[in-house]
Amino acid sequence: MVEISASVLNVEEEESAKTFYNLEVAKIDYFHIDVMDGKFVENNTVDKMNKYSNILKHITLLPIDVHLMVEDVETYVKLYSTIEPSVITFHYEAVKDKEKIKNIINLIRENNCKVGIAIKPETDIKEIYEYLPYLNFILVMTVEPGKGGQKLIPETLRKIKILKEYIREKNLDTYIEADGGINLETIEELKDAGIDIAVVGTGILKSENYAETVKKIKE
Ligand code: DX5
Ligand code: ZN
Repeated sequence: MVEISASVLNVEEEESAKTFYNLEVAKIDYFHIDVMDGKFVENNTVDKMNKYSNILKHITLLPIDVHLMVEDVETYVKLYSTIEPSVITFHYEAVKDKEKIKNIINLIRENNCKVGIAIKPETDIKEIYEYLPYLNFILVMTVEPGKGGQKLIPETLRKIKILKEYIREKNLDTYIEADGGINLETIEELKDAGIDIAVVGTGILKSENYAETVKKIKE
């Protein structure tokens, strides 16, 4: 059984409140907010995600899962802490420096949030091993960060398997979240590889029946 964090990135603005409601009724577990600054990745979703997180703050009690695809991590951690998310995840590639990574982890914790680090498909999983004991989540990108609706990169499955093995061996509590290109076709392999949470955007939004899709992905 996996949990679902529904990415709202590709939700249409005109129908956003109604779509959020429908997702919640379909029994997703988290709302996933994809913040892109136009620097770390080409797209800029700052205004759209500000708007969506403010709507969500008013209409849902479900936990919010913020995925920061930004260069200036500290600024966005402070900004998004105000909506009291359950988890804030930042990209390892945006920081890299050990001291800085530890400071950001502490900053997120001070704001009463769980902490996640995200890694791009080409980043070696071993690079983040030393941070795992301080993390609640490790978000493995299964597509290049930057946009929704892409195809899952199959090589990322091997990385998830290695990571899962390491987490088991070391008896850690870190959850594995996979993000990008997840749908009814790709979910089985991801479950086998050992993910705990699936970020799903278009896989649900483009389906006929949200509740049925959510149920099938989870079970
Ligand atoms: C990509 C984002 C993902 C993405 C998921 O950069 O981090 O969360 O929106 O969307 P789908 O499920 O459509 O790949
Ligand atoms: Zn994401």
